[in-house]
Amino acid sequence: MTRYVPDDNLLDVSFSAQFVHRVRFTENVLGKDQGTLADLIEDSGGQKPRVQFWLDQHVAEANPHCVRRLRDFSDSFADQFLRIGNVQIIPGGEAIKNDIHLLERMLKVFHVSDLDRRSYVIVLGGGAVLDAVGFAAGIAHRGIRLIRIPSTTLAQADSGMGVKNGVNLFGKKNWVGSFVVPWAVVNDQTLLSTLSDRDYICGFAEAVKVALLKDTSFFEKLEQQAEGIRNRTSSASHLMLRTAAMLHLRHITEGGDPFEMLEARPLDFGHWSAHKLEAMCKFAIRHGEAVACGLAIDTIYSSMKHDLSTAVAERVIRLLTKIGFRFDPLATVDANTLLAGLEEFRQHLGGRLTVTMLDGIGAPIDVHQIDRKAMMAAIEKVSSVAASTRVD
Ligand SMILES: NC(=O)c1ccc[n+]([C@@H]2O[C@H](COP(=O)([O-])OP(=O)(O)OC[C@H]3O[C@@H](n4cnc5c(N)ncnc54)[C@H](O)[C@@H]3O)[C@@H](O)[C@H]2O)c1
Ligand SMILES: [Zn+2]
Repeated sequence: MTRYVPDDNLLDVSFSAQFVHRVRFTENVLGKDQGTLADLIEDSGGQKPRVQFWLDQHVAEANPHCVRRLRDFSDSFADQFLRIGNVQIIPGGEAIKNDIHLLERMLKVFHVSDLDRRSYVIVLGGGAVLDAVGFAAGIAHRGIRLIRIPSTTLAQADSGMGVKNGVNLFGKKNWVGSFVVPWAVVNDQTLLSTLSDRDYICGFAEAVKVALLKDTSFFEKLEQQAEGIRNRTSSASHLMLRTAAMLHLRHITEGGDPFEMLEARPLDFGHWSAHKLEAMCKFAIRHGEAVACGLAIDTIYSSMKHDLSTAVAERVIRLLTKIGFRFDPLATVDANTLLAGLEEFRQHLGGRLTVTMLDGIGAPIDVHQIDRKAMMAAIEKVSSVAASTRVD
């Protein structure tokens, strides 16, 4: 809508642009479901598009056939696209996000490979690798098409569905990054089989988060399946990861604020402390582990200062513990320094502080002020759970 003002030199023109978020769920994308991936690669005005594969080093190590499978895949569809160069293997985990020089190296590879805006970067890996390669792809030529194949529960349930990319800088999480809608995301079940038990549960921290924000029955389902999640026997696990992914996707596509222009960032529930905790622990803990701590803190705080009942807060702590999360990292850090995470969180978003808290499950609220004394008490309480918890 154009707002006509007396002075024709001043124009405020609002406009919207159409995006498509392509999400595919597969059982074995490097096997019987290859066609699903191939179908995502569109030809480029009658020319074969250039396609480059980027692979998380730990996935390559855990699954020695992965590189060959990616090559076989490209050979099978050689009439459809050109594979450019070798499969690029890059450091897995936070290491890829913590060294800004790796970003330049990625860009150089795109450059010498002559990738263009209609080329495809297909990245297979954990959330950290997706964030870093996604950022590089997002800024090269102002955007090369990115196909994410998340290989962790966390990336499948949460980060892979999002539109954020980035790396860490100045010791701060995601200090440099971009909002870019990926060309496509392929969530594949088989890829999760090589994950360590430690990493396997991490995605369920984000599942608990999104359930707390949006869906009581999903929260109850997680409660019922907690033990099966921890010992990886629940046949419902894939479905629960899918539910979390769909809730996340719906938030992005229907929530009215995909690029976080507004104050509230509900999907960052529990994250002001999680991000700070990761940095304070020098990234020795996983994002999912930090999120579990952050959820516990903000849930307890919500029961102290808002309408969340103590009984529900205890259920949340019990659920996280039963899935296998420990709050021990909190015992190793200074609570006052952790509280500085609030200001860093505010600064990252700009404007006044806006943090999501809970009045109940499925009833998030935005708060603009935090009672520091109560927050310290909440941190202490979660730390004391860390000291006392044993899984029954
Ligand atoms: N962009 C977003 O919206 C968003 C949202 C949430 C989290 N994140 C980011 O995602 C990152 C965390 O992602 P994550 O939890 O996936 O952890 P991760 O990427 O650190 O992966 C955990 C470990 O598992 C390895 N790995 C990955 N897949 C494997 C597999 N299939 N088999 C064996 N090993 C495998 C990785 O190399 C790494 O060592 C953080 O940097 C976090 O900030 C981003
Ligand atoms: Zn997260």
